[in-house]
Formats: sequence, C-alpha cells, structure tokens
Amino acid sequence: MEAIKIAENIYWVGVIDWNLRNLHGYSTHEGSSYNAFLILDEKVVLIDTVKKEYASQLIDKISDIIDPKKIDLVISNHTEMDHSGSLFEVMHRIGEDKPIICSAMGEKALKRHFKSNWNYRVVKDGEEFSIGKRTLQFFETRMLHWPDSMFSYVKEDEILFSSDAFGQHYAGPERFDDDITPEIWYQAKKYYANIILPYSELVLKLIEKVKSAGLNFNMICPDHGIIWRVNPLSIIEAYNIWARQEPARYALVIYDTMWNSTKLMAEEIVEALGHYGVYAKSMYIKAYDRSEIMAEILTAGAVIIGSPTINNGLYPTVADFLCYFKGLKPVNKIVAAFGSYGWSGEAVKLINETFDSMKLNTVDSIRSQYLPDENCIKSCHELAKKIAEQLPS
Ligand code: FEO
Repeated sequence: MEAIKIAENIYWVGVIDWNLRNLHGYSTHEGSSYNAFLILDEKVVLIDTVKKEYASQLIDKISDIIDPKKIDLVISNHTEMDHSGSLFEVMHRIGEDKPIICSAMGEKALKRHFKSNWNYRVVKDGEEFSIGKRTLQFFETRMLHWPDSMFSYVKEDEILFSSDAFGQHYAGPERFDDDITPEIWYQAKKYYANIILPYSELVLKLIEKVKSAGLNFNMICPDHGIIWRVNPLSIIEAYNIWARQEPARYALVIYDTMWNSTKLMAEEIVEALGHYGVYAKSMYIKAYDRSEIMAEILTAGAVIIGSPTINNGLYPTVADFLCYFKGLKPVNKIVAAFGSYGWSGEAVKLINETFDSMKLNTVDSIRSQYLPDENCIKSCHELAKKIAEQLPS
C-alpha cells in the first residue's frame, strides 16, 4: 500500500501487517497496521515508526514523498517496539544528530531500549513546538498504556496523533472510518478490552481534560488500524462508555472441562440464566482466545468461571485465563465460580481467591463431586436466579 495523503502536506506512511496473528498474547485474526505519519512544513516531521522488519517499507514510502535526509525531527509518542522498532534504521538514514521529541519517560525508555545516546528533546505536558506554519502540542498520557505514552496534536489542522489509544488491530484495505464496518467496531472494542481496560480511570480523566481544554478534532490518527475522520468523536464516546464499565444484563459462563461434568454445569447455568431473563453466553475456553473472551467481558455484568480440579489445582487453560483476566483489572462485575472434582476439589476455591484479590463481588460458588447430581443442578439454577436478581433489569 502506498503512502496516503490524509491532509494538506500530511501523509500516512505506515505499513500493513496482514499476517500478524498474535501480539503479546492477544489474538489478532485480522492482522494490524503500524501507522506512521509525515508532516511537511518548514520542518519535516516523522511521527512514530513501524516494526523493525518493516523499516524498508517505511523508508520507501517516505522516499516517494521526500528524501528521508530532509526529515528534521522524529516524534516518538510511544517506545513499544511496534512503533519504535525502525527508529535505529530511521536515525541512520536521516542523521543521528536529528532531534527525537518524546516525553521524559520516553527518553528513559528509548535510552534503555536502544542503548543509544540520540539527541532527545523532552517535551512537557501541554508544551507547544512550532514547525513553521503549524504548531504541535504534546499531551502526556502516562499509562495509556505505557509510562512514556503521549499524544501529539497539530493545532492548525486539529489532528490528533493518539499513539495506541483509539486503535484497532485491523489490517483491512480501509484507512479511514468512511465506511466503518461492524468488524472494525468489534476490533476497536477488543483492543480497548485487552490493552486500555486497566487504565479506564485514566481514560475518563483524559476525556475530561480534553473537554476542558476545548480541543476540536478534524481527525484522530491512532498508531493501529483506521483513522477517524468522518466522526472522530464516535471513538471518544465509545471510550467514555467502555471506561465506565457499567454492568449490562449480560452474563458469560467461561469454563473448561475434563470429563464433561463442568461442561454440564456450565450448560445448566447458561440455560437457567436465560430462563431468568439474562442474555447469557457460554464460552468454552478452548473455543476462544483469551482476548476474545475479554472483548465480551468488557460489556458483561456477570462473569461465571468454571474449572475442574487437576493435581489439586486449576485446569491449566483456566489458570491461564484467570491470570490474563486479573491483569486487565475489570471492575463492576458480579462473579461466581463452579467446577467438578474427583476427590480434593481445590479449583473453585482458587477461582474465588482470584476474584477476592480483584475485589470483585462474588455471588456464590458450586462444586460437584463427579457427575452433577440433582442437588448440583438445583444449585446451578439457584446461582442463575441470584445473578439475575443482582444484574440491572
Ligand atoms: Fe502499539 Fe503499545 O504499542
């Protein structure tokens, strides 16, 4: 894909990674893109780079527009290697003495990662920097999603370069939200649930800060996926909703099973939830990637997790999921644990310990020795009833 003009003298020079299928444990079945941008003004500015293996594509795209040596400065909004990976090659091509604009944490991270004493120009939150006809303004967005993260805003064009925020791991031919599809919205939601979710409080504060600063947006350009230009506020509004994590009357029953007893319990709970008027979905852990389950959890009000006991512990797939789930720190969920066992039955206790450590509100738990009997089935229905009563109507 060639460089694309996104505004007068501003170009997308990123690359599409059609074959990416996993990014730090997150399934990316639709690939991704690494978006980098070139601004031609009295100073020529490159905003972010791309993954190391795509450095030559980035340089080629820049070269179609301008001799890379004419780049005067690079802005590094974020040090993670999908955006800084080509920095070494870029600096080599444009001149090692050219300034790299970054946050204070960005300087530390880049120095530690690249072991290179480049000409860092650290900017503070709100600081402005003239590049000729345009003024760039920088906003620190610490922990959205790394300590170094920042946004760059072109005041005259009202274009926000938002680093990872507002992105989607999506490698379609679309570069803009002109014909936004349900798939792109799903990828934006999945991205939020798997990358931004732990920092939801900061997202809400940032939205308030942007509102009080009175910033307008002609365009929001994230570092992954499509650029928001038809309705940039739609993705901000979506973040406002997702960050609040308001519970819906939606329950997920997430489980694995060894000899089908835990599966039988899961099916009873899902059916009973439906009976009590809850939209409920069964998610067999082997049928979904952990990141797909998290995308559903984002909007669920209840999360019910089931595991058989093996070797006095959790089933390994459930342990993996619980570790990922805990790290993403969802809030405002009611939770419950269930599972079958043969003789010791620790799995349910271990799930409950994870829930407690996350300060989630546990409704109840059910254990079944060997096959679920009538009493167990009754308990599954009672659990569903309690969950239905606690979820919003
Ligand atoms: Fe797309 Fe945090 O890197």
